[in-house]
Amino acid sequence: LYTLFVILTASFLCLLRTFVFTGGRRNLPPGPYPLPLIGNLLDLGSHPHRSLARLAARHGPLMALRLGAVTTVVASSADAARDVLQRHDAALSARSVPDVTRACAYDEHSMGWLPPESPRWRAMRKVCSAELFAPRRLDAHQSLRRDKVERLVSHVARLAREGAPVDVGRVAFTTMLNLLSCTIFSTDLADLGDRGASGVFKAVIEEFTVAVAVPNASDLFPVLAPLDLQRLRTRLEKVFKRLHAIFDEQIEQRLQERAAGEDPKNDFLDSLLDYRGAEDGRGFNEYPQLILRIFLQDLFSAGSDTSATTIEWMMAELLQNLSSMVKAKDELKQVIGSKQEIEESDISQLKYLQAIVKETFRLHPPAPLLLPRQAEAATEIRGYTVPRGARVLVNVWAIGQDPELWSEPEKFMPERFLEKEMDFRGKNFELLPFGSGRRICPGMPLADRMVHLILANLLHRFEWGLPADIEMTGVDMSEKVWGILGLATPLQAIAKPI
Ligand code: HEM
Repeated sequence: LYTLFVILTASFLCLLRTFVFTGGRRNLPPGPYPLPLIGNLLDLGSHPHRSLARLAARHGPLMALRLGAVTTVVASSADAARDVLQRHDAALSARSVPDVTRACAYDEHSMGWLPPESPRWRAMRKVCSAELFAPRRLDAHQSLRRDKVERLVSHVARLAREGAPVDVGRVAFTTMLNLLSCTIFSTDLADLGDRGASGVFKAVIEEFTVAVAVPNASDLFPVLAPLDLQRLRTRLEKVFKRLHAIFDEQIEQRLQERAAGEDPKNDFLDSLLDYRGAEDGRGFNEYPQLILRIFLQDLFSAGSDTSATTIEWMMAELLQNLSSMVKAKDELKQVIGSKQEIEESDISQLKYLQAIVKETFRLHPPAPLLLPRQAEAATEIRGYTVPRGARVLVNVWAIGQDPELWSEPEKFMPERFLEKEMDFRGKNFELLPFGSGRRICPGMPLADRMVHLILANLLHRFEWGLPADIEMTGVDMSEKVWGILGLATPLQAIAKPI
């Protein structure tokens, strides 16, 4: 009875607040009629990008819903996305911060959740682009990526000799994890053959991304947040601590090595500890360990599963669409020939391979609703008012399904990109897997190189097929519920050396 009383009072206060801020539904974009208390929560279903796309087809490309007590505005067309991410980027680029991210004060220090006016957010973006993702840095790290891809190829070759299936998502995840850990710490954190270490990371990152996406009473009715009724924040605190222990060990060890005058490793951790450009000229080494470990958590959690998921979808689509697989392999034969190793400089000539990557991002963007934004001020868009405090989502999955932009949008047809001058780097609002504007994914240049390089090597070095039992039914292409948009059933494929 007490809980019911708290919920009802809280809801009333939230609704009152919404009403005071927005003047009720006055001039909100159109949308489905909200039920008392829960609003449009039941409309979300288990795959919100799909349910929201269906609702947008009825209510329009800029649509308002009420999720619990929170007004949520969803942009679902290329033009509406341009309005949110370009025209009104300044007013709409703060985050709507999910309560779970408050675990271990993550939200207070994370690049993904800090507001763009925060000096630390700017410092983190700056150090990332200067030390990790600038073309000169990426070129300097090319041998590292080559090494990780070679190890992946050797691992797949061993499985091929044994006739054992390849868990494509898992090996891609471990490859990305080790690439990041070598770039940052100069050491591998996991072994391709051992499910243990990468399994821990994958479980932690998955739990985190699912917790951010799942409807949480604390977000729907913010006044309830201190109660953490679903225990999501409390659970995540334990999960974060496991991750932080791994990072702390690396940071501690490095601080000791530096204190002992050992030679620098010249990796990202060294750059971070030497960096003088952070807030007011202070270096990151002058910040408490908490900030460093959260910075690392941002990079690992945002960078590994997203890229691995993309590789898994690409292989799943090709195994379902063998004519595209044949075309990609023919192109590789023509461009690369009998040369075994594929260089990053070869990728620009592989037009069909690039089209496969774009088509996969169109159909399976790993973050189908990007990360949630929040209106810092009431903002006029397309003649409607997005009220201050509203949550703003961009449904990039729905844009990828828009029949006015794409013929037969549900089909995997890389050819559609051969005639189009369109890429996924944030300038074409029809294809936005990395977002756009000031919050665009900072890791895009690295993901771009890795995803192409891994796919090219897997296709050029092996013939691919499905295990006999899956061959009969076809690949299960259903999507995971919540979190990064991955395959619900991990893809198992059989590789044969060429
Ligand atoms: C943010 C996608 C790989 C680090 C984002 C966002 C998306 C995204 C959609 C939110 C953009 C927005 O809100 O407008 C992807 C995809 C990837 C990928 C599809 C791979 C295929 C990476 C990598 C890293 C990374 C490799 C780093 C190692 C980040 C960070 C943010 C972010 C730190 C938060 C930025 C901020 O809020 O300012 N990513 N990402 N991502 N991504 Fe990525």
